Amino acid sequence: MSDINAIGLHTDSANQLAEKLNELLANYQIFYMNARGYHWNVKGPHFFELHVKFEEVYTDLLAKVDEVAERILTLGHEPLHAYSDYAKISRIQEDTHVHEGSECVRGLVQGYQALLELQRELNSMAADADDEGTASQMSDYIREQEKTVWMLSAYLG
Ligand SMILES: [Fe+2]
Repeated sequence: MSDINAIGLHTDSANQLAEKLNELLANYQIFYMNARGYHWNVKGPHFFELHVKFEEVYTDLLAKVDEVAERILTLGHEPLHAYSDYAKISRIQEDTHVHEGSECVRGLVQGYQALLELQRELNSMAADADDEGTASQMSDYIREQEKTVWMLSAYLG
């Protein structure tokens, strides 16, 4: 029989969820830095609108970095906080020296697609573990980011 943690979840399930959330955190951190790179490096006729849009994106990603890390703590675990660890486990790869607007936006779409995939896996793991806190956090992110993917895809035509 498995132990119960401070918020009433089985410690075994909490361990698995925390590990997967650390994988999600790593992806958010790499994606965040990619979005900052797009904000800094984008050039061309759409500079002014894209520069602002990329700031909006990375500001939102940074808020979610903190929320994901604090969910890991709430489950009784420690969030990864070294970029060397993030680079090892992130599905999203570092995207460097990108200047062309559409290429930046495509990088965002691919990053969001990776987040959506991971968050759906987490949503289903959390549901199986009766972890409504993690499940609802993932649901909120999924709904928001699906809409963002639609808008970015519309921009790309
Ligand atoms: Fe800036």
